[in-house]
Amino acid sequence: MCGIVGYIGPERATDILMEGLTRLEYRGYDSAGVAVYENGKIQVIKARGRLDCLRSKLEGQPLYGHVGIGHTRWATHGEPSDENSHPHLSQSGRIAVVHNGIIENYAPLREKLMRKGYEFVSETDTEVFAHLLEDTFSRGNGDILKAVRDTVLKLEGAYALGVLCSRFPDRIIAARKDSPLIVGLGEGCNYIASDIPAVLPYTRRVYLLEEGEMAQVFADHVEIYDMDLQRVDKEVYEVTWSVDAAERGGYAHFMLKEIYDQARAMRDTISPRVKEGRFNLAEAGLTDEMLEKVRRVVITACGTASYAGQVGRSLIEKLCRVPVEIDVASEFRYRDPILSPEDLFIVVSQSGETADTLAALRLAKARGCKVLAITNVVGSTIAREADNVLYTWAGPEIAVASTKAYTTQVLCFMMIALQLALVKGRITQEKYDEYMKEFLTLPDKAEKILEDVTPIQKLAARFFSQEDIFFIGRGLDNALCMEASLKLKEISYIHSEAMPAGELKHGTIALIEPGRLVVAMCTQTATMDKLFSNIREVLTRGAVVLAVGYEDSTREDEATSYRMAIPRTDDLFAPVLAVIPAQLFAYYCAIQRGYDPDKPRNLAKSVTVE
Ligand code: M6R
Repeated sequence: MCGIVGYIGPERATDILMEGLTRLEYRGYDSAGVAVYENGKIQVIKARGRLDCLRSKLEGQPLYGHVGIGHTRWATHGEPSDENSHPHLSQSGRIAVVHNGIIENYAPLREKLMRKGYEFVSETDTEVFAHLLEDTFSRGNGDILKAVRDTVLKLEGAYALGVLCSRFPDRIIAARKDSPLIVGLGEGCNYIASDIPAVLPYTRRVYLLEEGEMAQVFADHVEIYDMDLQRVDKEVYEVTWSVDAAERGGYAHFMLKEIYDQARAMRDTISPRVKEGRFNLAEAGLTDEMLEKVRRVVITACGTASYAGQVGRSLIEKLCRVPVEIDVASEFRYRDPILSPEDLFIVVSQSGETADTLAALRLAKARGCKVLAITNVVGSTIAREADNVLYTWAGPEIAVASTKAYTTQVLCFMMIALQLALVKGRITQEKYDEYMKEFLTLPDKAEKILEDVTPIQKLAARFFSQEDIFFIGRGLDNALCMEASLKLKEISYIHSEAMPAGELKHGTIALIEPGRLVVAMCTQTATMDKLFSNIREVLTRGAVVLAVGYEDSTREDEATSYRMAIPRTDDLFAPVLAVIPAQLFAYYCAIQRGYDPDKPRNLAKSVTVE
């Protein structure tokens, strides 16, 4: 999604802005721009396309000023174009604005401004803010902070805003509501950014702006205000992860790095939660006393996070005999869901900023539910608004295609399910200990899968030119198929469908033709016979079957032509291992097809619009 960077200090602003925008590239964008105060006025340069297009323009027209704001835009209102790129100037050119989020009431505001004689050069909602701010400022007492505050109060929707005004070149103004924004604290210089990696080369000390907070960012100090323009005393947040952790570290792509980082991430998710042979989830409010009272669980999320939730549902229902309802957040929030304050309401989100998931969280809270967030990003909006948080501790996930976030989210559900089952007396202490012993081996087993990925590379080289690939499985394998299929389609652009294996014959089998690849997830012993009947159904119709199963199982070899193996584990834990070959298969298919897996078309890392 869009990215914001701002800088004020002794350096040439464009150098810092371009470096910051480069670090935000992973968020996804289709155009970019900068605004710098220079020689008494604001100069704006912007370009459709990758940052290199903007770089070329800046080479031809260098800017030397020391205060500026920059933006990478992912089109929402108006197509990707130079005109629609940010920053946007007000009519007089004295105010420049960058904005993440969506101003929902932009149409009536635009009409009103047009009636007053304001002329628009873009189709964006952001330009409305630029003119509206100028209008408000021109009728005010010359206080730019107050003018920004008065203007944002007229907005409906979400915003993270950076404002530069030529009357006040000693500061950048920032404001946020429902869209993340931070202030980076330097020595004799300061920054704003929509995401921490943008400022990490320069500082680890940041302010995380809260809902409705504003900042006046000067080179030598920062002032934070609330919406009543009262000063806010904020704690500095020290970033503990390294710049290197947010960079590729020698891997060809972030996605590959993150796939390989999974064993480490899994250990970091598990180890702080295991104390004396038991899971201790009290940090997330999941005390034994609380778990005893759980009568129903409701899970909501989007994309990969929702597929982690699907695994969670199967585990909780199977192990705990507690009913679980799950829905994608974009549907959940609009279907007037039946919720009760007694429900354990779980939202799952890597970024902690996904607009639909956040809205579902707010809906649940409004209905009196206590919300538990499973998230990766400390200080994210979802983390801050949830009643309790179970952090995945996966480390920064940069690639658009989620990998280590999924495995660690699934581990969180496994810990919750096992603890809930024990507390509710659904499993004996002996069985719990047995599960725990096996659970603790999962990071090592993940590492083993990653020791030699050549067979998976070869399979991708064999199948990358397929036009459709089907994923089939039963039970937990079915939940896993959805994630495997999404991974493949989002980065390789191969059309793919995930299908409960028994459901194939009710329609989709019509698409099976000679040579079509069907990936069969084969980790669930209880339904294995049934699954093999379904495998035979597609084999009979000429499909090629690639099985994902345990390395010590010979059954797949009898019926299927190709296989990807994982170490043996309890069937309940298999999704966390079996997803890894599926991620690698998707990654290598994308490479074979000549695509950049880190920058899939039309996608953004953090979807902060509905
Ligand atoms: O940050 P979130 O986990 O809330 O994001 C949810 C989805 O947008 C995300 O999982 C998306 O589906 C990924 N592209 C999947 O790889």
